[in-house]
Amino acid sequence: PVPLLEWYRVNRRILPWREDPWPYRVWVSEIMLQQTRVEAVLPYYERFLRELPDISALAAAPEEQLLKLWEGLGYYSRVRNLQKAAQVVCEQYGGELPSDYEAVKALPGIGEYTAGAICSIAFGLPTPAVDGNVLRVLSRVLESHEDILKQSVKKHFEELLRETMPKERTSAFTQGMIEIGAIVCVPNGKPKCEECPLESLCLAERHGLLDSIPYKAPKKPRKIEEKTVLLICSSKKAAIRKRPDQGLLASLYEFPNTDHYLTADEVREYLEKEQGVTVESVEPLGNAKHIFSHVEWHMNGYLVQTDQIPRQYLAVERQELQNRYAIPNAFQAYYQKLMEVLA
Ligand code: ADE
Repeated sequence: PVPLLEWYRVNRRILPWREDPWPYRVWVSEIMLQQTRVEAVLPYYERFLRELPDISALAAAPEEQLLKLWEGLGYYSRVRNLQKAAQVVCEQYGGELPSDYEAVKALPGIGEYTAGAICSIAFGLPTPAVDGNVLRVLSRVLESHEDILKQSVKKHFEELLRETMPKERTSAFTQGMIEIGAIVCVPNGKPKCEECPLESLCLAERHGLLDSIPYKAPKKPRKIEEKTVLLICSSKKAAIRKRPDQGLLASLYEFPNTDHYLTADEVREYLEKEQGVTVESVEPLGNAKHIFSHVEWHMNGYLVQTDQIPRQYLAVERQELQNRYAIPNAFQAYYQKLMEVLA
């Protein structure tokens, strides 16, 4: 069998954070890749680094620019913490990430995995990095039936990697483990064991247990929230509002919405009686669903033409919506429709 490092050298994907692995680039990549697939990250990554080329630029960026750069990636607290951490790095470390595991891990938004990844990939430190990919690979190799979300499992794997990691090749080792999980021991679908450098060691494969490992304890069902989303338009302008600065999708912009389903007649009445505008038409746009980690939004939507945009909202044109305000993906289905209407 091919050893891990040799396998990685030959089979690794060419990815922008791998070609030029200075610490800031590795850091941004690891934050973007949390809960997010490589293909989804790629279009965001270079643009982010172009607009915010170093840690001091990130520290000084206006919130609106930051959220716009992250628009559609989800889990927006990641980018807020990224900026907070950049500010700490500027104040305490002169604008360069410290080459020290504990100092890196103490920064906002950086946990054990991310600190281990940054330090082993960018600084050559022998720090293990156990993410979902690595949990899947190791639980299979070791035939571990324990819940991979348990802290004790992660601790055990970290110790194992710490002992195994070649001290001169920490970057290739960490990325090799992640890469096996991403492209061989894949998260959905059948693992490509014949391509795996760890196949001869893998107990789950040997014993035919690939369907039951990794094991995850069932989690409780998500809460369902019903909403009506209103695209309120008046002569090529649309209504948006800023979300509260705490909680789900904090500080992002959204289309006006209510937290229950409304009929077309109720929409008309709500806008005329409570918001004092004249409704010219109400067109149903159908249903849409968005799944967050702990909640699901079940939405119905209406396109509403009015004589004016109600005063409580921001009235924005298509260009501003595209270039300035960050609207989360939850509204994607209706956003598309609005773009057509405002075109
Ligand atoms: N997922 C998390 N870190 C990664 C990396 N460095 N390369 C590819 N996928 C990853």
